[in-house]
Amino acid sequence: MKMDVEGATSDENMIEVSYNDLIPNNVGLNSDRALKRALERWQPKFLDWWRTMGPDGFQEAEVYLRTAVGVGKGGWAVFDYVKMPEYRWGILLAPKEEGRTIPFGKHKGEPVWEEVPGEYRALLRRLIVVQGDTEPASVEQQRYLGKTCPSLYDLRNLFQVNVEEGRHLWAMVHLLQKYFGRDGREEADALLERRSGDRDKPRLLGAFNEETPDWLSFFMFTFFTDRDGKMQLESLAQSGFDPLARTTRFMLTEEAFHMFVGESGVGRAIQRTCEVMNEAGIKNPYDVEAVRKLGVIDLPLIQRKANFHIALTRDLFGSEISTNAATYFNAGLKGRYKETRIDDDHQLKDATYPVLRHFNGEFFTEKVPALSAVNARLLDDYSRECQGGLDRWNKIIKNFDIEFTIKQPHVAFNRNVGEFANLHVSTEGGVFDEPTWTAHREEWLPKSEDLKYLHDLMKQEKKCDCFANWISPPRHGVNNMEGDFEYVKLR
Ligand SMILES: [Fe+2]
Ligand SMILES: [Fe+2]
Repeated sequence: MKMDVEGATSDENMIEVSYNDLIPNNVGLNSDRALKRALERWQPKFLDWWRTMGPDGFQEAEVYLRTAVGVGKGGWAVFDYVKMPEYRWGILLAPKEEGRTIPFGKHKGEPVWEEVPGEYRALLRRLIVVQGDTEPASVEQQRYLGKTCPSLYDLRNLFQVNVEEGRHLWAMVHLLQKYFGRDGREEADALLERRSGDRDKPRLLGAFNEETPDWLSFFMFTFFTDRDGKMQLESLAQSGFDPLARTTRFMLTEEAFHMFVGESGVGRAIQRTCEVMNEAGIKNPYDVEAVRKLGVIDLPLIQRKANFHIALTRDLFGSEISTNAATYFNAGLKGRYKETRIDDDHQLKDATYPVLRHFNGEFFTEKVPALSAVNARLLDDYSRECQGGLDRWNKIIKNFDIEFTIKQPHVAFNRNVGEFANLHVSTEGGVFDEPTWTAHREEWLPKSEDLKYLHDLMKQEKKCDCFANWISPPRHGVNNMEGDFEYVKLR
């Protein structure tokens, strides 16, 4: 691949990235021969995994991709055509902050750790493995989507997300192999052996074992589930274990694009639906039959899809009240969202936090020790961020004078983890017995005919500058390319 790094060296924080090596990196791999050997042994296994579990049918296509080539603020990436198996999955750490101290927990104020503290070894390894496991999982989930892409622009964006999740896997594997010796190497291999949705060797977290069967699911996933990823990375970016903090900080620069794909993807579907409804003079968004006759996705289905993905993603935050989360925080391993910007003692000695709980059919808010409510707080931060995107989607609908508002379902709706795991709660927060809830299920979650409709709607569009009927073109091309740009050269 041609590396035109114009502009990439202008930033004074730029750390030199060695791109001539087999494994591009800014971690001085050449001076650590044992680590280099371990990574070089892992690389063919990764490529093998990529070829068998990565995008199906597009391994030979030339894709216009962004590759990270530096970690400075200006010009950290280049765009060029590349065949995905030849993508340069580098190991990149954000610049070191001199004199950084542990920002929270019982070690607050002590210098950050450059090596794994013995007492926290198992906890840290677990954190890294769980984060690492999500990266290849989503690539596996999205493996067949290329066959039904609504445009080459979207196809390219899917692949961009996929290769970057691959790089995130590299990032976690680097930490495992560098800092955790033999068990780290075993964990690195296991990351390539589990499979999304597999009965015997599933991925570690529920949402990463679900299917991503259509493009609306993909956009919902990148909006809601990648956003959970962002919240987790933000919390890890605070870590007292500095290599983890620096790794995740750089991953966040890539993650922003994934959420853009999700938000703009759903937004473009909404835009197209509203446009077509207006042209046909359909005012009632619940006239589903009429809307579907026009070959677009009705707004109530978009709401049901959102309900499904939000609930599934909320489960990823873990129990609202959690001693594990307290342990991670206290130990200085995983902080809160934007920890350093929070105005408190960062140790949560006497602090409380209001958590929504449930007893006997009633919801109530209880102040619990803030230390044990770290997950609840992160989930609240997450909900606030999601709302920003929903507001922007609703603005599109409003611009067309259509009366419909996409809402976040009640936080207890359809949960399998945490405070509300055993309840049967409606999107509005009504608590039901199981048979009643099940009888209403199809009002809240996609039903089989919804999924069939979406399935039939998804047809591959591979002409430049053409888009499937159900989605609007984007406002801007990738890297400011013109509309007729050939984002993927199919063979
Ligand atoms: Fe990721
Ligand atoms: Fe992501």
